[in-house]
Amino acid sequence: MSPRVVGHSLPRMDAPGKVTGTAVYASDFALPGMLHGKLLRSREPHARLVRIDAARARALPGVRAVLTAADVPDVRYGGALKDETVLARDRVRYVGQPVAAVAATTREAAEAALAAIEVVYEPLPAVLDLEAALAPGAPLIHEAWATYAAIPILHREGNVCHRARIVVGDVERGFAEADRIFEHRFRTAMVHQGYTEPRAAVASWDSSGQVTVWSNTQLPFEIQNTLAEILELAPSKIRVIVPGIGGGFGGKLRIGVEHVAALLARRTGRPVRVLTTSEEELTAAYPRQGTRVELRTGVTRAGRITAKEGRIWFDTGAFAGSGPGVASVATLVLAGPYKIPNLLLEGYAVYTNKTNCGSFRAPSGPQANFAVESQMDMIADALGLDPLEFRLQNIVREGDEGPTGQVLAGVGLEECLRRAAAAIGWDDRRPAPGRGKGLACGWWTTTGGSSGVYVKINPDGTVALNTGAAEIGTAALTGAAQVLAEELGVDLADIGVVSADTFATPFDFGAQGSRTAFAVGNACRAAVADLRRQLVGLAAAQLGVPADALELRDKAVVGAGKRVTLAELARLSQASGGGLIAHGTFIAPPTAYDAKRVEAHVYPAFHSPSFHAHAVDLSVDRETGEITLHRYVVAQDVGFAVNPAAIEGQIEGGVAQGLGQALSEELVYAEGRVLNPNLTDYKMPTALDLPRIESILVQHPSAVGPYGAKGVGEPPNIEPPAAVANAVAAAVGVRVTTLPITAEKVALALSGETAP
Ligand code: MOS
Repeated sequence: MSPRVVGHSLPRMDAPGKVTGTAVYASDFALPGMLHGKLLRSREPHARLVRIDAARARALPGVRAVLTAADVPDVRYGGALKDETVLARDRVRYVGQPVAAVAATTREAAEAALAAIEVVYEPLPAVLDLEAALAPGAPLIHEAWATYAAIPILHREGNVCHRARIVVGDVERGFAEADRIFEHRFRTAMVHQGYTEPRAAVASWDSSGQVTVWSNTQLPFEIQNTLAEILELAPSKIRVIVPGIGGGFGGKLRIGVEHVAALLARRTGRPVRVLTTSEEELTAAYPRQGTRVELRTGVTRAGRITAKEGRIWFDTGAFAGSGPGVASVATLVLAGPYKIPNLLLEGYAVYTNKTNCGSFRAPSGPQANFAVESQMDMIADALGLDPLEFRLQNIVREGDEGPTGQVLAGVGLEECLRRAAAAIGWDDRRPAPGRGKGLACGWWTTTGGSSGVYVKINPDGTVALNTGAAEIGTAALTGAAQVLAEELGVDLADIGVVSADTFATPFDFGAQGSRTAFAVGNACRAAVADLRRQLVGLAAAQLGVPADALELRDKAVVGAGKRVTLAELARLSQASGGGLIAHGTFIAPPTAYDAKRVEAHVYPAFHSPSFHAHAVDLSVDRETGEITLHRYVVAQDVGFAVNPAAIEGQIEGGVAQGLGQALSEELVYAEGRVLNPNLTDYKMPTALDLPRIESILVQHPSAVGPYGAKGVGEPPNIEPPAAVANAVAAAVGVRVTTLPITAEKVALALSGETAP
């Protein structure tokens, strides 16, 4: 029987509230008597904090609290490495680092208080880029960091806060077998996620010493634990609720302003809201790291890759943040979706005196893929091979090994490449002077982690799905609800969702890593397996039909010509058995890999990997260097399309973000300061800047995902920079090896000068 609910482009459940303006986001959330919290941020990239005087600020009208490091717990927290403090203590390490926090009756009073705090800095030599950080004898950003707590495998040295490595075969032998060896360098700029809603949190303490925090975090359970660490409280005293979230894209994985709101609320005895500004977002959030990449690739004359040596350095800013994880994941991206017998790949996370970088949709993906896929075209050009044919000669196929030895299954890469190329009209790659087409392909993971759901049948036969995951705007919870509706024999409209509350919902690893529909969907299947037993047991007794003759269909249990509705069974259970409810759980099975191939690696395999190919058709103005995009095609192997329209939405959004990184976005630093911390000068594309984006959904099922689904949210963000770079090269013969590919760089290259 063909599925009734999954596989259909049903409207997303969160849409009506969002399009009519009734949805409540964290930044809308308010409580009576609520104060406004604000952060005073460092004006120096690296300095000793000589003195902070808050006396004048504390005396201002409406000011209820001013906190400095002396007033908050002296706790060091963080992910792989605990290097962060709530407020700067003795030293500031980037422009934008929180130095003091105030709470006042109005936002204006809070801003006046910030202006009245006197801070005396004694500037220290600042480490402003990767080269300076890695130079012999560079000043250490964290002198005492050997004493910081960290995960055991963390590799640290100087300003390197992690190095992960993959070693396969012997690259020197592989280079000896090659006819040609190609060496190239690339750079990518720091970019912001550009979520619509800035980070926001409201905190309120009750008389029992319990705090509730309403936040737009992607990870309420992670925030509960981090708050427990910072506030030195048991997690059971901390309730985190996500009322709604206006986009995250990885920028809201780690604690943002929740702890500041909680500390100010504790001090004042009043609820406090902290809401960041665009300027704070663009100077002191968790953007995507700028990188430097070096690739050395050996190839036979016929186009077989024999060896690849690659290194990527992430400028992770003043704190490690996601850096160690991102540096690890990068090595798998550097390998590419290619079969290469000899590999030496390294990812480095490096401290600098910049904002603390983080995770952004497919962390490391666009940076590493830009280098890998640009180089594939550069090699093809040098060997006189067609870039598509060169890729087809080297890509992984069903049953091949990934770089760390995982056995690949459900590999739809060849189909993606062929269909994307056909759709863009690859046969005519340079259709007019100044016009060209480019291709790029890649692979990505479906992040693991566990999910739990409660599924309850209401007395009217509708269904409550209670999940710890937040709907961050991807429609992933609609996808999970479609899986639930399919399995339970009800309609999507019968399902209501309660989500993301650390006290009221089961644990979920969170809305991250392209995992939500996959993992929550599978937890729903597990819950239905339990509910089916309960329902069939009750129905068998009620109908006098043996249980094995019964099935769930059309909002009822049916069999042997008889039928009892879910509503009747729910009421029956409420009268006699406590109601119909089930707890479903899911954890992705581990992916086997060869541990001998990895070193200090925190992410050694891609789970239920997805494969994708992008193709773009564009023109370049030879005079101005301006790029006009004509068409953009994505062929993505999604395993199974639970909701095709929602996936197309993810593809369009991911490509839009990726084109921003490709063409215009960059947080421009000079002397440790962001020069463009506003949405006029930080240039994100709008709908008017984008071409038609066409989606081709390829379906080679995953053995694990619901109905074969794979993670879909992050991948569309990976390939746009490389696809654009390759199309520009095809159009005008200019190869830009740094992101963004601005008109200025293209024009300079066309005029024979080097881009800045
Ligand atoms: Mo994602 S970068 O795991 O939100």
